[in-house]
Amino acid sequence: MAEGEIKKGLVGVIADETKVSEVMPDINSLTYRGYAVQDLAEHCSFEEVAYLILNGELPNKDQLKEFEKQERANREISTNLKNIIKNYSKDAHPMDTTRTSVSHLGLEDKETATNTIEADYKKFIRIFAKTPTAVAANFRSRKGLEIIEPKKDLSFSENFFHMCFGKIPSKEVVKAFDVSLILYAEHSFNASTFATRVVTSTLADIHSAIVAGICALKGPLHGGANEEVMKMFFNIKEPEKAKDYILNKIKNKDLIIGFGHRVYKNGDSRVPTMTKYYYKTAEFYKNEKFPKISKILEDTMIKEKNIFPNLDFPSGPTYYLMGFDVDFFTPIFVIARITGWSAHVIEQLKNNRLIRPLSKYTGSKHRTIK
Ligand code: COA
Repeated sequence: MAEGEIKKGLVGVIADETKVSEVMPDINSLTYRGYAVQDLAEHCSFEEVAYLILNGELPNKDQLKEFEKQERANREISTNLKNIIKNYSKDAHPMDTTRTSVSHLGLEDKETATNTIEADYKKFIRIFAKTPTAVAANFRSRKGLEIIEPKKDLSFSENFFHMCFGKIPSKEVVKAFDVSLILYAEHSFNASTFATRVVTSTLADIHSAIVAGICALKGPLHGGANEEVMKMFFNIKEPEKAKDYILNKIKNKDLIIGFGHRVYKNGDSRVPTMTKYYYKTAEFYKNEKFPKISKILEDTMIKEKNIFPNLDFPSGPTYYLMGFDVDFFTPIFVIARITGWSAHVIEQLKNNRLIRPLSKYTGSKHRTIK
């Protein structure tokens, strides 16, 4: 890179090393700690993958049991937080309420000020276990429904369904949800992860870093895309209208959310696996319309623009079919990404240097006050 050259959007800039995950756009692959994400999605539970991301190795039976025990033991949220959630405005966006709830978890955590790797791991467990409870409580309370307490005898995904709906769907649907969490869990130096690393580099605490991640994830160019995809499906309504809708958008040079990626230019490595489970979910709910719309949009975008769908394209309709409100899609992404963010917080802390880039000044020339 030539001296003084500006890399707008930090395109192509390697900001640091990481051992957490590797994105390989040339071979359309993504690995967590060396394992292909497709294999993890097919063969592991979300809890196993969460353990892998944080600890660097897949857990053996005892390690998994202990990890699950810790997560399950920390699921409950305080009465204070439940009351705060009940008092959130019914119109507040769930990403704003999730941000506020996680920030509140930081106020209540006895170890917030203890900034060691050991304390961060324990705080990660608490944030990981309690955030789904806070999100589900908000999901219900804004509809005027009673908050449902977490259950210790359920898996992470089963428990989330239980807390949102008071029941657990079929095994296939739970697996599709688990797969979506695995695929959303980690993705190297994306915008929200970089935000968590910037905050950690100042030696601020892990709750602050995770809140920064949530703030960055909210935007429609990042995590907020899965909501926007669903809104596009609502506008299209019928498969017969899908092609004209997208051609019109292309003609108007509109941004089509759910397509394109900063790193992948020939397809997002996570999409084939998520699409498989999206179609399975659609089949389970006997919905033929959504997959038809998806196929038309995807084929047309590739043919006309050579731009491929990203993970938000299949995950949005999958979550909708499962019964989640559209504005809760990105908080679900948060629940998954807490694992990746926390691993990066710990990695940053292990070998920290304050992140502080330069800028090229283009403002007024030096002037004096008259
Ligand atoms: N719809 C329409 N055109 C798109 C597009 C999309 N989703 N994504 C990229 N393009 C176009 C750009 O406008 C640009 O066109 P130009 O050369 O005529 O200016 C060209 O494709 C190259 O894209 P580029 O600007 O280099 O992409 P980027 O790396 O800066 O941006 C995203 C990546 C993700 C921000 C971008 O693809 C986007 O905004 N996608 C929609 C939002 C989304 O789904 N985000 C979730 C990401 S996981």
